[in-house]
Amino acid sequence: MMSQIGKIFEEARVAISGVASHADFDNVKSKILGPNGSFRELMKLLSGLPKKERPSMGQAINACKDKVEEMFKNKLIEIENSETAAFLGQPIDPTLSPISNEEIFCHPLTKIRNRIIEIFSNLGFSTVEGSEIETEWFCFDALNTPESHPSRDDRDTFYFNRDVSIENVSRRGDEQYVLRTQTSTVQIRTMLQRKPPIRVLSPGMVFRRDAIDATHYPTFHQCEGLAVDEGITVCDLKSILDFFFKKLTGEGSEIRMRPSFFPFVSPGFEVDFRSKNLGKLSNRWIEICGCGMVAPKVFQNCGYADDEISGFAFGMGIERLAMLLYGVDDIRLFFQNDTRFLKQFKLSML
Ligand code: PHE
Repeated sequence: MMSQIGKIFEEARVAISGVASHADFDNVKSKILGPNGSFRELMKLLSGLPKKERPSMGQAINACKDKVEEMFKNKLIEIENSETAAFLGQPIDPTLSPISNEEIFCHPLTKIRNRIIEIFSNLGFSTVEGSEIETEWFCFDALNTPESHPSRDDRDTFYFNRDVSIENVSRRGDEQYVLRTQTSTVQIRTMLQRKPPIRVLSPGMVFRRDAIDATHYPTFHQCEGLAVDEGITVCDLKSILDFFFKKLTGEGSEIRMRPSFFPFVSPGFEVDFRSKNLGKLSNRWIEICGCGMVAPKVFQNCGYADDEISGFAFGMGIERLAMLLYGVDDIRLFFQNDTRFLKQFKLSML
């Protein structure tokens, strides 16, 4: 076995030193470190060894793998430097004066997402990312959304073929994969992985079969928030959202909550906000966010004792916020990559 480890190390060394491009790099890396790569094969051999030899062999394989990973890391730096130099037509000059923030542009959706993350991080929310490909259970069932709910209809949701299986997105049973229709899926994945207290924010892309017009696009971004602990109340939810909108749109802004229905919260609310700083839309109530107290059924689905803890969740659309804050009247502008539009958004402005 030792000689086999040595052989694989030698093969990896030769393969890595021969890598000349990014595409090549990914290829070689997956052959060596990927799920069906040489190291996985080595690990499989372990089970054939006598029990007492396994720990030391396992350690030897891991030490070898660490070295190989290090070689990949160095190779990547080498490739990136040479690709950048080739792109610029000259080597990188670190003595050039830096570009000021005034000259750097930032996509408006990125700006709003970063601003949301910044405000909530001050309230102790950390950011978690979920997968854009989800399964029906995580997107719907776990969120108490029954089979009969319209969002599950294939006119509203992008389903994968039944025979597709995606290795790194875990399933409950043999349910179908879907492009997630909401970032609420991250509530479930987080609660299954962690224990309360939880405070997370999950920004990300979602997908719905919407016909394209000035306010609808089949791909858009949401930001979900989730807090779970002992004794969390609607008052906490309202205070946090009130704080958020004041930070986002200025001290004078206010929110109001109206009863509404989402299957995974109870009670559920729709939030409107009103601000003095929204141009034409100033001082008008604007619907902006869904929220509510996490429903007992959702806690049960995640194995939580719903009588000991409580929590709230909220979700808002990033495009919608960007449209309101920057006075953009057509959602399509966010996705066309027209630099005449994008250049209006400086990194330095709010
Ligand atoms: N996921 C909901 C939607 O997409 C929004 C929401 C999130 C509502 C969290 C309540 C709580 O419409």
